[in-house]
Amino acid sequence: MFESNTLRRFDKLETPFYYYDLRLLDQALSACREAADAFDFHVHYALKANFNDRVLQAINAKGFGADCVSGNEVKKAVETGFPAEKVVFAGVGKSDKEINEALDLDIFCFNVESIQEIEVINLLAAAKNKKARVALRINPNVDAHTHHYITTGLEENKFGINQWELPACVDALKASDNIELTGIHFHVGSQITNLDVFKSLCVKVNEIHEWFSERGFVLKVLNVGGGLGVDYHNPDSSAVVDFKKYFEIFDRFLERKPGQEVHFELGRALVAASGSLISRVLYVKNGLKKNFIILDAGMTELMRPALYQAYHKIDNLSSNTDGLVKYDVVGPICESTDCFGKEVELPATSRGDLMAIRTAGAYGEVMASGYNLRERVRSVYSD
Ligand code: LLP
Repeated sequence: MFESNTLRRFDKLETPFYYYDLRLLDQALSACREAADAFDFHVHYALKANFNDRVLQAINAKGFGADCVSGNEVKKAVETGFPAEKVVFAGVGKSDKEINEALDLDIFCFNVESIQEIEVINLLAAAKNKKARVALRINPNVDAHTHHYITTGLEENKFGINQWELPACVDALKASDNIELTGIHFHVGSQITNLDVFKSLCVKVNEIHEWFSERGFVLKVLNVGGGLGVDYHNPDSSAVVDFKKYFEIFDRFLERKPGQEVHFELGRALVAASGSLISRVLYVKNGLKKNFIILDAGMTELMRPALYQAYHKIDNLSSNTDGLVKYDVVGPICESTDCFGKEVELPATSRGDLMAIRTAGAYGEVMASGYNLRERVRSVYSD
């Protein structure tokens, strides 16, 4: 878990803070890199999962591309050193300003999510006398079997172009002189742990790919998105995701044509395990029915439990008594959903104990808010 010199260091620091284990991050990045290279797959890191500078630098150093969902993410990626020709820009609501800036930066590709967006990008590119490369984000109507708040690939979701719209989409492309179609793009959801979902996605991609081939389109890129889940229950024993097993599914089931590139957009699987939210116990309230541990970190620092009923393992780093006690572990924010875990079994816990909320490297720090005028959460690194 944490080495004793790390714990001694924590003791001297003001809490709460995010702690990033850069060695563990490097292990995950290397494992992914190696597995992707073995199949000649291209990985774009989804910045939305974590855009902490040190984390981004480590990812860029490994040669991954960048998957961005706002103009600021595009700028951040380029400023960090990701080459523009490895930057993709997705999102259902790109503003004209964001599109213009991305055109100026000459990014690799816009993942477009509607017919109207094709028309707008075409107009803006024409005004600059440029050709915008686009991939169509198509809604494959594949159920990701994950929490409904992080499911994106069903027709009831706002994302992507539905299959029945494809003929109109092709007409729009033909009418757009300043657009070049590079490929098709899919993303069915996040924290997917049932790998069969990706098999179903491959079957759908093959079908849609064929539809385009029949109409004479040569697609350079098949982008299958991200979504690979992590094991929140065992942060130590399965810290690095089995990337090989994941990529093998696509190698086996996705039909690619010679020279065609397969792109992935992984976020969580690369960064989740390397981050923990470290917090101190402010108070312990022993009630008749429940015991509460009140931390100095709350939903303002880590939103996932409040928003998705997400599980994060909680460890007491200061106490290791034999007998376990059940506690509700809560934050200081004036909201009942500000709770990190109910009936969590922990060693007897006291005011001042240091606690770690594990596997918080993805969608943790980036989703922090200033609600209740809380201070911006700090970050600390293993080196
Ligand atoms: N590509 C697209 C188009 C996406 O929408 C996403 C995530 C990704 C790639 C990266 O997915 P990943 O590999 O990280 O699963 N805040 C939520 C997760 C939201 C995911 C949004 N889209 C959470 O904390 O669980």
